[in-house]
Amino acid sequence: MQQTKNLYVIGWPIKHSRSPLIHNYWIKKHGLDAVYAQKQVAPDDLSKFIHMLKSDECLGFNITIPHKQAVFAAVPRRDVLANKLGACNTISWRDNELYADNTDGYGFYRNLLDYSDWRQTDQPIIIYGAGGAARAILQAMHDAGAQHIYIFNRTIPRAQKLLADLNIEANILTNSDELNDCLAYAGLLINTTSLGMNGENDVDINLSLMPKTAIVADIVYTPLQTGLLKQADDLGLVTVDGLGMLLHQAAKAFEIWFGILPEVDDELRDLVLSDL
Ligand code: ATR
Repeated sequence: MQQTKNLYVIGWPIKHSRSPLIHNYWIKKHGLDAVYAQKQVAPDDLSKFIHMLKSDECLGFNITIPHKQAVFAAVPRRDVLANKLGACNTISWRDNELYADNTDGYGFYRNLLDYSDWRQTDQPIIIYGAGGAARAILQAMHDAGAQHIYIFNRTIPRAQKLLADLNIEANILTNSDELNDCLAYAGLLINTTSLGMNGENDVDINLSLMPKTAIVADIVYTPLQTGLLKQADDLGLVTVDGLGMLLHQAAKAFEIWFGILPEVDDELRDLVLSDL
């Protein structure tokens, strides 16, 4: 008899993760013999956890804070994109060896296409932030053909390092005057920082400077309508919330494990929304 396959999301401490809800929804929908659970793994136990995994019992795992870099360093094989980004969120098996992927950029871009008609690769886009999420999103937008990318970050050297690490030609906005000038002709603004999470410290950007056709995207999904998205909505701009990125990065991970790209449907979205 075939054994039920395990999947995990690991972290320390493991906060309330929505990944089990999302993946178990698809596992059930597709009638698969698998179960996805969250697992608390202390940093000192990470190596033991990785070495105990067996490919006939476990299909792989997702990683949250603080293990993203440590797991990246510990697995023997990495996808080209994960390697370039220096970070991974999904681990699977290839030829009996652990293999690292990064599905965050895919998740962001796929969701952007779901909720907007962004195809204007010649219009400037502004990425706010230069952390791990910005890294994956910058690469995804560059790969999607965006020709004029601007980065705005509180700590300018961090933005410079981001561009140097990824070897992407983009521009850095060094002060709010430069940001405001750029907003006037930008087609897309993306918040990749945690500002606005739990309704605290909203992003302080004047969206009324943007063209009326502009799109505003946020990766924060608690609350679903951040202060930034509320401002955009009030101005009649197109908004893209952060929940879809979470769902689509999970869909890509599911495809890596099961070979099925599952649908991000309204039922799933409502299920996760009711858990936020
Ligand atoms: P993640 O991996 O989730 O992207 P991170 O690497 O800690 O998290 O990056 C957080 C991003 O949010 C950074 O761009 C950070 O700006 P700095 O590089 O200047 O630290 C940005 N950020 C966090 N808190 C901020 C704040 N209060 N004001 C402005 N930017 C902030």
